[in-house]
Amino acid sequence: MLGTLKPQPADKILMLIGQFKADPRKDKIDLGVGVYKNADGVTPVMRAVKAAEKQLWEVETTKSYTGLAGEPEFNAAMAALVLGDAVAADRISSVATPGGTGACRQAFELIRMASPDATVWVSDPTWPNHLSILKHLGMKVRMYRYFDNDTRAVDFTAMMEDLAQAKAGDVVLLHGCCHNPTGANLTGPEWRAVADLLGKTGATPMIDIAYQGFGDGLEEDASGVRLIASRLPEVLIAASCSKNFGIYRERTGALIALSDPAAKEVTQGTLAYLNRQNFSFPPDHGARLVTMILNDPALRADWAKELEEVRLGMLSLREQLAQELQKASGSDRFGFIAQHRGMFSRLGAAPEQVERLKTEHGIYMVGDSRLNIAGLNANTVPILARAIIDVGI
Ligand code: LMR
Repeated sequence: MLGTLKPQPADKILMLIGQFKADPRKDKIDLGVGVYKNADGVTPVMRAVKAAEKQLWEVETTKSYTGLAGEPEFNAAMAALVLGDAVAADRISSVATPGGTGACRQAFELIRMASPDATVWVSDPTWPNHLSILKHLGMKVRMYRYFDNDTRAVDFTAMMEDLAQAKAGDVVLLHGCCHNPTGANLTGPEWRAVADLLGKTGATPMIDIAYQGFGDGLEEDASGVRLIASRLPEVLIAASCSKNFGIYRERTGALIALSDPAAKEVTQGTLAYLNRQNFSFPPDHGARLVTMILNDPALRADWAKELEEVRLGMLSLREQLAQELQKASGSDRFGFIAQHRGMFSRLGAAPEQVERLKTEHGIYMVGDSRLNIAGLNANTVPILARAIIDVGI
């Protein structure tokens, strides 16, 4: 039986981890996978997470199963973090999931159950794993134009033109903030226009929010989600705690489904059912830490402070890189790097140029020229800037 299996394509992002490790060069630079690193190249455990873990050790009395939906306190805390007070509680169904990927996977399965012929509209480009999971589930996908490779900004006119074709029963997948892989994001008025268009077409929005707090701030990064949630009757939200709590390997996320209050009971039951089919109970450790942090004013304040330091650090690396590139290129054509938000920017380079960065300079980024800003520090920014010009980007 197993002999009939065909090799599956390697994940292009995760593949880089192995390649980078195997590279013997001492001065190599890893701008690949979306993991935050401080100036020393370390992905630290956040202070509040450490403190919560210590407390948890003292107070945890059982490792017995949690609920199929996870702990209600976690679901409530996540809904409040993402949605603020934009939505009444009687519209919210929510389950804990294994990370943001688990939330996306459960959302896609929910869509397939509710609307078997749904086309899921995804941005061109999007996080490659969106496409991979949708393909694995045999779901219909269409891409909407999103990124203008010349300006490195959102091509909003093209996006709206394409999304006008989405129909009721279809799903439009949006990135809540810090678009992955481009770093180019919608403005407030653009979110409003998207909400209006979705209202007209009847397509259901699904919002993947994996970087809340990494762009313009915790509240600011949620403003698009909140607007859509307050304006449209049904919304799916896949939220990740991997990055903003730095608990990548704990696999902590939530799938939130907003519906008419009359549909809430069945929606919540279906989310729990889907958890049961796929993995039974969601992981608890990370979810518990997140709950403790969000519900304890002192832990929460310290977490928000550290997250803000992380965000501002990435912003200043963006500024520095844009300046170094201006010096190295003698032009303003890299100004977009300071405009983009979040962990990533897409340079808009050809695959051969990305390959040369790797082979000639030991600089690793995803083949579509997505670079992880957090992989840089003050010393490596000028090195990257010179390498970018050297390979002719
Ligand atoms: C990324 O895009 O690099 C991260 O979201 C990690 C992953 O799972 O791909």
